[in-house]
Amino acid sequence: MHASPLTELLGIDYPIVQAGMTWISRYELAAAVSEAGALGVIGSGGMEAEELRIEIRALRDRTSRPFAVNVPLVNVRPDGDDSIVERLIDVVVEERVPIVITGAGSPKRFTPRLEAAGSIMIHVVPSVRLALKAEAAGVDAIVAEGFEAGGHIQSDGLTTFALIPQVVDAVSVPVIAAGGIADARGIAAAIALGAHGVQLGTRFIATTECNAHRACKDALSAADAEGTAVYSRAWHASRALATPVVRRMVAMEAEGCDAEGIRAVRGRGRAREGCIEGDLVEGILPAGAAVGLVREVVPAAELVAELVRGYEQWIAELPRSLEARRHNVA
Ligand SMILES: Cc1cc2nc3c(=O)[nH]c(=O)nc-3n(C[C@H](O)[C@H](O)[C@H](O)COP(=O)(O)O)c2cc1C
Repeated sequence: MHASPLTELLGIDYPIVQAGMTWISRYELAAAVSEAGALGVIGSGGMEAEELRIEIRALRDRTSRPFAVNVPLVNVRPDGDDSIVERLIDVVVEERVPIVITGAGSPKRFTPRLEAAGSIMIHVVPSVRLALKAEAAGVDAIVAEGFEAGGHIQSDGLTTFALIPQVVDAVSVPVIAAGGIADARGIAAAIALGAHGVQLGTRFIATTECNAHRACKDALSAADAEGTAVYSRAWHASRALATPVVRRMVAMEAEGCDAEGIRAVRGRGRAREGCIEGDLVEGILPAGAAVGLVREVVPAAELVAELVRGYEQWIAELPRSLEARRHNVA
């Protein structure tokens, strides 16, 4: 894979970002990915500030390569405390984290401080409108995340295929494509659409170093193309593995249940139950629409190497396969 404005900006070998994932992207996974030449990301959602500090230091014991911390900007704790975001940003600044990825909220609040601290700032958006806002707020790169993505999505959001070229045309900072990318073909498609790099979440859960419960990794490997569902469309819409509780919420919405009713079922702590405790009945495991492409659990370095190798092979064979298709059509 060639150097690009993104690899140069981030100081990484390959323009592949392992997505920040609440509960299940800790230092073991992030360090393994960064050490393999891609960008490892610690997901700070669900963490206390001091827990994040310990994670950052543990990662630094394992690798000296660039890494990022993902900070969801809307993060209200069960007791209603929303100051956690400030405290997580304090730690990121104090620990001189080189790259910060924010999402779910406005980056404007934090860009001056993070810039002054020397961090590169990346913001996740689901639309062209929010990409333009993020660029105006001064971020260095954008993750454009389509409707296929695992986790929080925009309920009427564009698909990755439609979103990426429109964001690429609208902004001048590097664009990272996310949502429904799980193998080398997806990477090649994203690059063809004009993206400078890709962010993969679901595929990285099925790695040895990910701290998700073994039952989650097995469930992802077994899931087919209909394996995920979008639920809670009226209140922080999300895509997750279609576990019984997720199916229950989808059915309730189809019968006209309002956001308040869904919120009561969704409650708090179900993602933790799903991801960490492996409860795939009452728990939630966020996952993207390309889950059917996840077949096996592999070490993260192997996954990065396979994505790079597969991409290179795809590009090398492109002229021949286009030629073959031209003859088939004729
Ligand atoms: C289990 C899980 C947890 C996630 N948690 C976060 C998060 O805390 N912050 C965030 O910005 N995105 C989060 N996401 C979205 C990912 O960062 C990423 O953009 C998405 O997974 C890409 O789609 P894919 O899963 O189809 O690869 C999460 C996704 C998953 C699957």
